[in-house]
Amino acid sequence: MRVDILTIFPDYFAPLELSLIGKARVTGLLDVGVHDLRSWTHDVHRTVDDTPYGGGPGMVMRPEPWGEAFDALVPVPADDLDVGLDPAPLLIVPTPAGQRFDQAMAHSFAAEQRLIFACGRYEGIDQRVLEEAATRMRVREVSSGDYVLFGGEVAVLVMLEAVVRLLPGVIGNADSLTEESHANGLLEAPLYTKPAVWRGREVPEVLRSGDHGRIAKWRRAQSLLRTAAQRPDMLSRAAPETLDKHDVAT
Ligand code: ADE
Repeated sequence: MRVDILTIFPDYFAPLELSLIGKARVTGLLDVGVHDLRSWTHDVHRTVDDTPYGGGPGMVMRPEPWGEAFDALVPVPADDLDVGLDPAPLLIVPTPAGQRFDQAMAHSFAAEQRLIFACGRYEGIDQRVLEEAATRMRVREVSSGDYVLFGGEVAVLVMLEAVVRLLPGVIGNADSLTEESHANGLLEAPLYTKPAVWRGREVPEVLRSGDHGRIAKWRRAQSLLRTAAQRPDMLSRAAPETLDKHDVAT
């Protein structure tokens, strides 16, 4: 997967060198380009923002540097023959005014060959940037959650981490991906490791029993209880096949 990130703060993305994302880059599963939006400005102050039309607080990102950046990353086809050589990337614009990011969205992004993230700052980006970009690629406005950050950079780190761990080969044991929270519409059961007793607290006996049938049943029950306690909204949205007759009895 190729990922391009446009930002006025490239340093935010230093963590992409670390851990499994860093390893995915070294092994060639992931190719990342971080671009300073200011390199597409032409004035001495490298201006990227201006006051909002219609009034209001704060500043809005001007369209020109964004337009030039997209021209560089996704050239407009010179003629019909150029169309379709490379699949058009998906442009993701992080904004609290977007659709809320979730695991299903992470899976759909992980299926793309090429993603571009456009990190807004200040109050946001001039809307015409998104309209114009949509003439040559798919555009999605996505929120990392229902709160407001200073800008899109941290939201991009969140989304990228969720997406990259789904790429085939990034996580050694693929079972980790099927047994985690949100993999099946439920939260994962609590986890324990050694020692068996710590500060007087015992690991539940069933997990030490070696009885895989009992363990699976216990985990399923814990998963349902935890989801009901922490995220009742997930239970009410659960597909009928997520909850079976057997669960009602546990
Ligand atoms: N920019 C500011 N807040 C954001 C959020 N919650 N998600 C994505 N981008 C943002």
